[in-house]
Amino acid sequence: GRVCLAYSGGLDTSTILKWLINEGYTVVCFLANVGQEEDWSTVEKKAKQLGAEKMVILDLQREFVEEICFTAIQCNAIYEDRYLLGTSLARPIIARAQVRVAEENNCEFLSHGCTGKGNDQVRFELAFLACNPSLKIIAPWRLPEFIEKFQGRQDLLKYASENNIPVSSTPKTPWSMDDNLVHCSYEAGILEDPNTTPPKELWTRTVDPLDAPDKPTEFTVHFEKGIPTKVVVAGKETTGSVELFKLLNKIGHDNGVGRIDIVENRFIGLKSRGCYDTPGLTIARLAHLDLEGLVMDSRVRELRDQFATLSWSRQLYNGMYFSPEREFIENSIKFSQENVTGEVRLMAYKGNTYVLGRKSDASNLYSEEDASMDSLEGFSPMDTTGFIQINAIRLKKYGLQKIKDGQP
Ligand code: ARG
Ligand code: SIN
Repeated sequence: GRVCLAYSGGLDTSTILKWLINEGYTVVCFLANVGQEEDWSTVEKKAKQLGAEKMVILDLQREFVEEICFTAIQCNAIYEDRYLLGTSLARPIIARAQVRVAEENNCEFLSHGCTGKGNDQVRFELAFLACNPSLKIIAPWRLPEFIEKFQGRQDLLKYASENNIPVSSTPKTPWSMDDNLVHCSYEAGILEDPNTTPPKELWTRTVDPLDAPDKPTEFTVHFEKGIPTKVVVAGKETTGSVELFKLLNKIGHDNGVGRIDIVENRFIGLKSRGCYDTPGLTIARLAHLDLEGLVMDSRVRELRDQFATLSWSRQLYNGMYFSPEREFIENSIKFSQENVTGEVRLMAYKGNTYVLGRKSDASNLYSEEDASMDSLEGFSPMDTTGFIQINAIRLKKYGLQKIKDGQP
């Protein structure tokens, strides 16, 4: 049979590639460019050398940013109050493209190197099944014959030497990484002890805030309907989705913005410790939230926070991207973003980003006049007496009940 394998060039997927070939499959390798650091030609050479029929590398950065990252910004997406979903966001884009590559190359199987304990296997396979249910999936790390053969890194190294799989001489980091335009994640290995502090050299996307410059970087982010359209630094304008996202990454990187270290709950029920550095999205999310404060209706905002932000984030985390519920939520998000047009001035400084000011012509909800403590124009303070009395009806009854029951 013909298999389309998600291939990264690492020891795991190189072993899977060789193993599939040894099992009699013809393998087409696929690598998505979602903005990660990669030596593309080396990976391609390695795949061919190991016997792949073909290596397909696709640049998906623009669709990644425009279809998913911008929606994440519009939703203020966040998982368990901390994680900006960097890995989860890239998965639907990669999986959809892999299905396309499989179809174009007449493959009837899809394969990947995700472990049997993680979220990624769920995300990839749900996306595969949604995009083309007729393709069959080979998940080696869940096949008894495969895990029997490869019980640890030693087995992988032994197989590598027996099968002429080049193993890089530079020692692998003692943790696993997943890298894309949004973030780099670090998990497993020495990080499995949740009380082990990540070493300074772990972080690849941000400088240590302690080493960040003493001088802040000031910049402005412009939005149209909740989507960032322009970033201005020292008078220099950057437009273009990928370009401005990379610029925000650079600002965040240089100033040490966007590091987190958390223990999260995986979809399959396990807890896991992860470190993530997410410079640009951390900044974009803050700017977006701030602009919404200026222009968004309060009840729309309340519903969006309780419902759309939570749902969309969970859908992406759990791999439910190609689902009706995700489309449903995105339609409501779109409505909520109609007036989220304007600009936010910010400053990145030593691990943090501060809002310096914001403005918008898109909404009349905020009015200096109405908010002013010095003006009573168009406002009758006497009306507020009734407002307070009516709102107090329930509270008075509840309070009296407590007094009667002798509770403080
Ligand atoms: N725990 C994060 C998530 O589930 C990061 C996963 C990183 N994936 C990886 N293959 N290293 O989204
Ligand atoms: C993996 O299991 O392949 C990485 C971790 C995860 O997907 O959660």
